Amino acid sequence: MPQAFISHCTEDSEFAQQIASGLASSGVEVWIAPDSIRPGEEFVDAIQRGLSTTTHFVLVMSPDAFESPWVKLEMNTAIRLEREGQLLISPILYRDCKPPLLLGSYQWISYGGDSTSIVKRLIASIAPSEAPPSARRWWEPRMLTDDQASAIQQGLDEVGAETSICKLCPLSNERTIAVPGAGVTGAQVMLIGEAPGPEDDKTGMPFVSAAGQFLDELLGLISIPHNSVFMTNIVKCRPNKNRDPESYEIKACSDYLDRQIALIEPKVIVTLGAHALNRIAPGHKLSSDHGQPLSVDGRIVFPMYHPAAALYRSRYRNILIKDFIDMDRYLAGQPVA
Ligand code: URA
Ligand code: SF4
Repeated sequence: MPQAFISHCTEDSEFAQQIASGLASSGVEVWIAPDSIRPGEEFVDAIQRGLSTTTHFVLVMSPDAFESPWVKLEMNTAIRLEREGQLLISPILYRDCKPPLLLGSYQWISYGGDSTSIVKRLIASIAPSEAPPSARRWWEPRMLTDDQASAIQQGLDEVGAETSICKLCPLSNERTIAVPGAGVTGAQVMLIGEAPGPEDDKTGMPFVSAAGQFLDELLGLISIPHNSVFMTNIVKCRPNKNRDPESYEIKACSDYLDRQIALIEPKVIVTLGAHALNRIAPGHKLSSDHGQPLSVDGRIVFPMYHPAAALYRSRYRNILIKDFIDMDRYLAGQPVA
């Protein structure tokens, strides 16, 4: 059974307890002060006992923890035990704190106001489910024969060529160049956004703007390589001044997206933002359906908030992180917390 020692200072007890109960409910055996100290046991002995058996060391680092001699002692012991291969360290940055130099090179998890997303990320590394490796790699592109791959590529190239000279809607006057979409021919996962961003409009590639970088981080979080999916948008040309695309523009552009979906036949469609959801699964609401699998035309559709929303509001950032992790667990056949 995986074990986690939760290192925290008294000021952060409430947050540390939330993490402890989240981990415990996923089958992780938790050591946390003061609950895990046996009657009559000295604090320092209890710490040594906890650290000597644990497989994971979860560090809640905050400005107060930074000053705590106990946290320092626990951290230094954990660093030594990690070097000896006894445990792994998962550090969390809580309440605007900088990482201590000793752990500067670690992958820190930043708290953004939502402890459930922290718990999910910890569980993903502390207690990965026993699902077979094939299920865990649900996103892996289909193996295609050369003929299949070139037939799909030809269809995608046709869509690309047509969009580059398309004048079916007023966005043709606003674009620099059309952004038809990009990705691997055998993609099982298609991500559908709203419209090309400013950099996308100049390069012809989707999701290279700031929102796209965050999208890449979300994919990285669930170990999906950027080059194993297909990314596109409901309109292929960028509206001026970041305005939303009009419904008649979305309609004018719909045939291109329909053809791309028919060519690629993705198992999973991830819609990003309300417009994309409305285009793929009309009648659904992002506020109530985000992160929940829908069945649409025999495909699994996951409605997600748009990654651009997360650039301005950390609430959306946390929701997106949670929803991507939940989606991964769901599709890998693992229990979703
Ligand atoms: N880039 C895209 O390609 N689509 C979006 O929705 C946002 C940025
Ligand atoms: Fe054509 Fe779509 Fe561009 Fe409109 S947005 S001009 S329909 S490619």
